Amino acid sequence: QKDNLMTTCYINGKYKPLGKSTVSVTDRGYQFSDGVYEVIAVFKNEFVDFKLHLNRLFVSLKKMDMKINLNKNQIESIIKKIKKINQLEMGIVYIQITRGDQNPREHKYSNNLKPNIVIYSIIKNFEYLNKLAQKGVKTSLYPDVRWQRSDIKSISLLGNVLAANHAKKNKSHEAVLFDNKNMITEGNSSSIWIIKKNKCITHPLNFRILKGCTRHKLISILKKNKFKFEEKKFSITSLLNADEAFMTSATNFIMPIVKVDKYTISNGKPGLNTLKFRNLFINAI
Ligand code: PDD
Repeated sequence: QKDNLMTTCYINGKYKPLGKSTVSVTDRGYQFSDGVYEVIAVFKNEFVDFKLHLNRLFVSLKKMDMKINLNKNQIESIIKKIKKINQLEMGIVYIQITRGDQNPREHKYSNNLKPNIVIYSIIKNFEYLNKLAQKGVKTSLYPDVRWQRSDIKSISLLGNVLAANHAKKNKSHEAVLFDNKNMITEGNSSSIWIIKKNKCITHPLNFRILKGCTRHKLISILKKNKFKFEEKKFSITSLLNADEAFMTSATNFIMPIVKVDKYTISNGKPGLNTLKFRNLFINAI
């Protein structure tokens, strides 16, 4: 893939260099973060969980009461075309749809807006993540200060951004978010899991977390391998006392967590089950 600004970007029916792809200042995404997005990984020249991400994009649009004049098949073709033009073998395709331009600025949206649809790709080094997974990562706790509809993959990510930068300051790979009852919700851009007594546990699906595609895929792998799992809330204390902990996302696949701030999880090494799941996942994709 070419240097980032020369990367080809689909924007509202046209294919242009990313550096020349622009939307208006009155775009509602820019002014109100009124939009949705998706991140689909490409690993060894193959899309990962393509259909799950495409379906979730349309679920997010529906939850936001947004309509676009392209159907799933058309979006699919554009995503595939972007991968091809940019010769993307390892990385992600980023899709963003905002409600469109509205001038003058007003909170209430009019119903005849034309959504701004942008699709482009970014190279990512997943081999580096493989190395990281052999050591496991450090995470940092951060209060979940996000809005209360985290089930929508909206571009309103300020809470996630604050959390991620808290993690960065603490030399952590990811922030682990907790609610006002000290229960873990999810990561700043991942689903969070623990293993206790050979059972995988992750937060149940509700408005507080995103329905992760990697989470979904892992659940089917767990079922196939007859590994016990439960969707239930767990506390910060349970995380710190877990036998194993890990995070899942499109860009990390399955990543062992070995530290939470100054606390070490178990013996400080990636859990054996976690590494097994990571291998099963990578084989499955
Ligand atoms: N984020 N929870 C949040 C808040 C996320 O942002 C993500 C993904 C996930 C995991 O979902 P999935 O397994 O479908 O990637 C959970 C993407 C990678 C991002 O924002 O870059």
